[in-house]
Amino acid sequence: MICKIVSKNFEIENLHTLEVAKRNGAYKSIDKAFKKKQTEIESEISKSGLRGKGGGGAPAGAKWCLVSTSAQKSYLVVNADESEPGTFKDREIMDKDPHLLIEGILLTCYAINAHDAYIYIRGEYKFFADRLNEALKEAYADGILGQNVKDFGYRIDITVHRGAGAYICGEKSALIESLEGNRGHPRLKPHEPSPEYYFGKPTLVNNVETIATVPFIINNGADAYRSFGTQKSPGTLLFGMSGHINKPGIYEMAFGESMQDFINILGGGVKNGKKLKAVIPGGASTPILSAKEVQTARLDYESLREIGSALGTGGMIIMDEDTCMVKVLKNLLSFYSHESCGQCTPCREGTAWVDGIISNLLNKKGKADDIELLSDISKTMNGKTICVFAPAVAMVIDGFILRFRDEFEAYIKESSYV
Ligand SMILES: Cc1cc2nc3c(=O)[nH]c(=O)nc-3n(C[C@H](O)[C@H](O)[C@H](O)COP(=O)(O)O)c2cc1C
Ligand code: SF4
Repeated sequence: MICKIVSKNFEIENLHTLEVAKRNGAYKSIDKAFKKKQTEIESEISKSGLRGKGGGGAPAGAKWCLVSTSAQKSYLVVNADESEPGTFKDREIMDKDPHLLIEGILLTCYAINAHDAYIYIRGEYKFFADRLNEALKEAYADGILGQNVKDFGYRIDITVHRGAGAYICGEKSALIESLEGNRGHPRLKPHEPSPEYYFGKPTLVNNVETIATVPFIINNGADAYRSFGTQKSPGTLLFGMSGHINKPGIYEMAFGESMQDFINILGGGVKNGKKLKAVIPGGASTPILSAKEVQTARLDYESLREIGSALGTGGMIIMDEDTCMVKVLKNLLSFYSHESCGQCTPCREGTAWVDGIISNLLNKKGKADDIELLSDISKTMNGKTICVFAPAVAMVIDGFILRFRDEFEAYIKESSYV
């Protein structure tokens, strides 16, 4: 089941140092790529079908084109905010193989004709920011970065920027606002496909893992990447497992594998011999699946969308038969209510309101129409806000009610206010 592309060298001791990384093939792709035309790199990425690995699965090639066709100065921003609960794959890359990320950044900058890249990392991840800065220092000293990348006459500078620890700063336009020194508020989105704009210049924002996949494609070709996964979801992803599972961790697999096999074979099954009750498939913002749905679910974008959920970041949260779904939803809603940036009324008020309703339920103060009220508020949050934070919360609520309504009803029945 395991299929290692990005994680292929993770086990090697001291891989984070330049010497060990180079001994294991790091920066080989630069010699190949920088002799080619920039458009050739971009078209190889388009052909590979690489999809963004930060949660949305947007085709990378199409996004690169939006920036590279611009005559203006452009930037690359790598999204290392990784704040989605249940997701911890980007940190694994930055810890184990930071030079792979730097190599991917060099290739991407060259392809989109950018000379400056920023890695925006969540403030709390100091260890990982230090790891990256050490790797950058070594790469500068070795002439891999700076005025004259590997003597190819092309300048690339990379800066690590630490955020202040807000979930919303993972959203690409909020991230750029924060990088510009402003409050991390998402921007309104244009109707047409468009790049992001950093200080008014076209900017590509890609996730850490997306960028770390680029060297494999350049070294081995688009077809080699396409030989893994499914037709519409080609390649691999660093899938994660946490919660009630025997072997939590990160496992790289091709898209399209069985979720149940992933849990049983790689994860070693549910902890303490308990039965599986539910799985949140791709970070907290993806709708929950029941154990029955998990039996036939496949791990690719299309399959999960068909059953009313989403692949998201591929960070799965496993829950056993003893888990109270009302308490799980309360945990998530407290998080969302705290993290809403507050710009849009349906989100700011809605997340606090639904959180309050679930608190009342848990305190046996529920009302007969609470489930309808939750659904109603969730409708108000969907499709009426600046960013997709609120619609994602709405889908999370709907997913719990659709699959575990009886547990919410049981709390209402026990309530003194009914
Ligand atoms: C609320 C919210 C939080 C997000 N957090 C992250 C994050 O931590 N890391 C990430 O790469 N993308 C995150 N995204 C997605 C980014 O907006 C963006 O789509 C992504 O970085 C693009 O990179 P990709 O195409 O390589 O996936 C978030 C989106 C939203 C709406
Ligand atoms: S939906 Fe929520 S998080 Fe997104 S911009 Fe509006 S208030 Fe902020």
